[in-house]
Amino acid sequence: MAETMGNLKRTDYCAHFGLENEGQEVVVCGWAQRTRDLGNLVFIDLRDRTGIIQLAFDDMTDREVFQKAASVRAEFVLCAKGVVRKRESVNHDIPTGMIEVYVHELRILAKSLTPPFEITAETNVKEELRMKHRYLDLRRAPLQNAIMMRHKIAKSARDYFDKQGFLEIETPMLIRSTPEGARDYLVPSRVNKGCFYALPQSPQQYKQLLMLSGFDRYMQIARCFRDEDLRADRQPEFTQIDLEMSFVDENDVMEVVEGFIHHVFKEVLDVDIPLPLPRMPYDEAMNRFGSDKPDTRFGLELVDLASALPNCGFKVFSDALANGGSVRAINAKGLASSLTRKEIDKLTDFVKTYRARGLAFTRITEEATSSSFEKFLTPEEVAAIHAATNAEVGDVILVVADPKEQVVFDSLGALRCHLAEKYKLYDPDAFNFLWVCDFPQFEFSEEENRYVAKHHPFTCPKEEDIPLLDTDKAKVRARAYDIVLNGCEAGGGSIRINDSALQAKMFEALGFTPEEAHARFGYLLDAFQYGVPPHGGLAFGLDRLVMLMLKKDSIKEVIAFPKMQNANELMTECPAPVDEAQLKELCIALDMQE
Ligand code: AMO
Repeated sequence: MAETMGNLKRTDYCAHFGLENEGQEVVVCGWAQRTRDLGNLVFIDLRDRTGIIQLAFDDMTDREVFQKAASVRAEFVLCAKGVVRKRESVNHDIPTGMIEVYVHELRILAKSLTPPFEITAETNVKEELRMKHRYLDLRRAPLQNAIMMRHKIAKSARDYFDKQGFLEIETPMLIRSTPEGARDYLVPSRVNKGCFYALPQSPQQYKQLLMLSGFDRYMQIARCFRDEDLRADRQPEFTQIDLEMSFVDENDVMEVVEGFIHHVFKEVLDVDIPLPLPRMPYDEAMNRFGSDKPDTRFGLELVDLASALPNCGFKVFSDALANGGSVRAINAKGLASSLTRKEIDKLTDFVKTYRARGLAFTRITEEATSSSFEKFLTPEEVAAIHAATNAEVGDVILVVADPKEQVVFDSLGALRCHLAEKYKLYDPDAFNFLWVCDFPQFEFSEEENRYVAKHHPFTCPKEEDIPLLDTDKAKVRARAYDIVLNGCEAGGGSIRINDSALQAKMFEALGFTPEEAHARFGYLLDAFQYGVPPHGGLAFGLDRLVMLMLKKDSIKEVIAFPKMQNANELMTECPAPVDEAQLKELCIALDMQE
């Protein structure tokens, strides 16, 4: 039988004690991290969420207590009463390393099996095993810290927005499925047979309706669900810091958001983010960085070679340009000694994963210039390329040409990040924010063979671009903005359409007939006839923000119970089949032929 705490009451957390407590009688509780039995001395490192304190027992300790201490194994749950004293041998690795608790009462509150892996800060235990026993993995210091920091960041957000007059309002989890955006998670209704709810991809429509209801400033730390493929910064289930404001334009939203960024970085990390944050139009971001979420911690910017190659005789380049594509380069400055032919071959394989057909290069060293393409060009063209890319000895010029401009952007955009990461070309401590604005309203979906909303169908187009809705959709720009941090989209938002006629026109531009638009979004179109204030907002990915603030590589490191690659959770083994009876009740028959 495990012991109880009885009359013992914890006086404080393990790592809250120091030399200033010398001589005090204290009670500490936690898990045995490590035990050392030296015969007439026993030491136990006791761990809780604040850290570790050493418990000490010696030949003066009551025999029963001493023997109990000697029987303790890793991960046993203990409560110990004793006196804080100076340690003989100081441990400089932990904050409580100057002291220990000389114990005279010990309770073993729970025993533990030997855990499947040791609970240590650093680990090379396979992720699958850690996820299967996530409750043990969560005992490790980096995860404990990440989860505590996450709490601080969420609290800081609530405090900030509260001070700014925002109301936290919950919106439903069971909602109507909307066809735009990512795939919905569906939930069958037992009561309404054959009907389904969807889990919200975001509270978007509800927060807009709250503006219509007059709540003026809304925020919510909201759970969102999207059935899409996982990446390092994506989970099927994630959390947003979601906000919406009435009677505002984009500058007002950005100002409030910048205030939040400043507040949370100062409060949680004691870092001063200089304001205002820089703003960059989407076109400039693509042209300079090949990405709508540029990492501005380093250079390696893209250079458009079209004007250097007006009548170029090299077919790869001229075909790309003739077919509406582009030829662009980055200058891997000073990397000639690292980027050997073999390394360049690897980079070629890398850009091919972004659908590029190849990677042309010129490598300039003291001894020679070697190039995969210059022999096909005139000396004037070569000189023009070198001038455009500011090529010098020690540089490698890397070129992608493709009839699809997006392929050039995607491959070079990814390549510059890859090189910067590999050759450590940026300050790992930096936090580089920027706004990307003036996004295109639509993007062409090859899958659906139609224009779809780049942000969402409720985003307002720029007023001067409204006539283009009828004539040239590709050119319509949206009043949308993303907040980018170190090359990651931390948040995004827009000013919304508040006019039902314009909203109807937007649905038409997206290829819905008025009947289809009404069938899918009728409630919104109806509501919008009852006085909608001008409004706009934004949502941060909370998980992403925490990941970026804590400099973690994966979103999984800041989520208590994340999903794995194929959207499953290894600990509870979900998703899982359900009983035949449950399916029957829902009128669902499975067809597993696919
Ligand atoms: P958006 O779809 O851009 O906008 O999402 C806002 C932010 O949420 C985060 N995010 C994710 N984080 C983790 N896993 C995911 N699968 C995931 N998907 C998105 C990103 C992103 O910037 N309703 C609009 C916001 C608005 O217009 O106000 C929306 O959801 O950090």
